[in-house]
Amino acid sequence: MERPQPDSMPQDLSEALKEATKELHTQAENAEFMKNFQKGQVTRESFKLVMASLYHIYVALEEEIERNKENAVYAPLYFPEELHRRAALEEDMAFWYGPDWQEAIPYTAATRSYVRRLHEVGCMEPELLVAHAYTRYLGDLSGGQVLKKIAQKALDLPSSGEGLAFFTFPNIASATKFKQLYRARMNTLEMSPKVRQRAIEEAKTAFLLNIQLFEELQGLLTQDTAGQSSSTTPRLRRQEGGGVQESTPTKTPRGKPQLNIASQSLLLRWVLTFSFLVATVAVGLYAI
Ligand code: HEM
Repeated sequence: MERPQPDSMPQDLSEALKEATKELHTQAENAEFMKNFQKGQVTRESFKLVMASLYHIYVALEEEIERNKENAVYAPLYFPEELHRRAALEEDMAFWYGPDWQEAIPYTAATRSYVRRLHEVGCMEPELLVAHAYTRYLGDLSGGQVLKKIAQKALDLPSSGEGLAFFTFPNIASATKFKQLYRARMNTLEMSPKVRQRAIEEAKTAFLLNIQLFEELQGLLTQDTAGQSSSTTPRLRRQEGGGVQESTPTKTPRGKPQLNIASQSLLLRWVLTFSFLVATVAVGLYAI
């Protein structure tokens, strides 16, 4: 039987996904938004913002899971009672945004990109849905539990868990054991090598979509602080309706820096001044 080489991809899908997304996991943890969160520098404003994005993301993810629950490419991972977050997020939205939360919550460009990709996958490439479910649910059962405690303390929330339903999994007695079961189920999925490779790439995309979201949210919060506004919400809504660019991330999210028009014209002025000086000196020398 063929055995994996030391630095080749692991045989089990669960191991392969963990390995392939390791670097991106570190990148996600180190996103400024997440770093601030881990330091306890989370405000009600930033928390509401990220929770609203998660609401939109889980609505889309779980809609696609329901669509594919009987499809063999996803069925072994269907754990609605244990995992699904939509109802919990609806509770949290009502807590944070009040009874009219449906109209009040922001829907940012990066959130839209994420949602769009989830629908594309669910409708057109359901064999990749595992990558998105893995990225979110195993993440929520891991680092998510640390974040819950930080938020509870930083935002001075009641220990009853109000406002933090998203982080609470009442039907999972042991997160560690459940994650083991989930990984075992992932490893039962029948996949051709090609599909497996695409699933691995999709898990990277899922991480990038999360990173892109954190970067966007941090930008919106920073912009708002700089603008001295007392609340981000009106500004965010303007952003939302303002057709902010949407994009599915590529594996190189930051392109080469390009000179903008202002720096190009400054450069041109320097070149012209320099040429003029050279010409003047040359004419002077010639005259001598
Ligand atoms: C401050 C941010 C984060 C912290 C502190 C954190 C922490 C952790 C820790 C300690 C584990 C290992 C748990 C274990 O081995 O059982 C873990 C696993 C995981 N995290 Fe995170 N995480 C963070 C952000 C994220 C984000 C943003 C995502 C993706 C959306 C994510 C996705 C995952 C996944 C999928 C796993 C499971 C890996 C596996 O066992 O295959 N994490 N995280």
